[in-house]
Amino acid sequence: MKFFIDGADIAEIKALCAMGVVDGVTTNPSIIAKTGRNFQEVIGEICDITSGPVSAEVAATDAKTMILEGKHLAKIAKNVCIKVPLTEEGLKACYALRQEDIMVNVTLCFSSVQALMAAKAGATFISPFIGRLDDIGHDGMQLIEDICQIYSNYPDLTTEVLAASVRHPLHVKQVAEIGAHVVTAPANVIRGLINHPLTDKGLDIFLKDWAKTGQSIL
Ligand code: G3P
Repeated sequence: MKFFIDGADIAEIKALCAMGVVDGVTTNPSIIAKTGRNFQEVIGEICDITSGPVSAEVAATDAKTMILEGKHLAKIAKNVCIKVPLTEEGLKACYALRQEDIMVNVTLCFSSVQALMAAKAGATFISPFIGRLDDIGHDGMQLIEDICQIYSNYPDLTTEVLAASVRHPLHVKQVAEIGAHVVTAPANVIRGLINHPLTDKGLDIFLKDWAKTGQSIL
């Protein structure tokens, strides 16, 4: 499974990339607004840190302007992936941008039939939002399962399922068990996959016992 960071904090991205666990980055207008920085500068810096897909979302809602914005953003770096919302206009833009061999991540997906239409439009990635469905009492993980099942029926569909709106490590575990291609998660969730209190406790004991030997390795 590929791991994308859902965020735009340069220091956090650098720190996780240093572990070799990052395959790309996703942003959205809310994430960019939180940085307080210039959108295109931030995307450029992220593209310098990782060679994986970096999702940059258009701001327009009409296909013609989405296409113009997408082509403009794609010039920032070769690994920029254009994010468009899952609307009729968004799918028109998706189809057109894919004709130009520009990566497209179709976002704000909340149903399996939406995901099927995004795949028909040639999306590189589809972003079903798990957490936002959970937030209103629906089963976000069931959506991931349904999409993966539908896509598996048609091997000619090349769209990768990019599980998004991930709230905690259990979401990542469940997405991996289902077999989604990609998960995008905030840096703190990715760190939550690595850190464990028993590991810390065991290491503390090892270090204390090692100190008793009075030896050093170097
Ligand atoms: O960036 C897309 C998605 O992961 C955002 O999810 O619900 O945490 O805003 P959310």
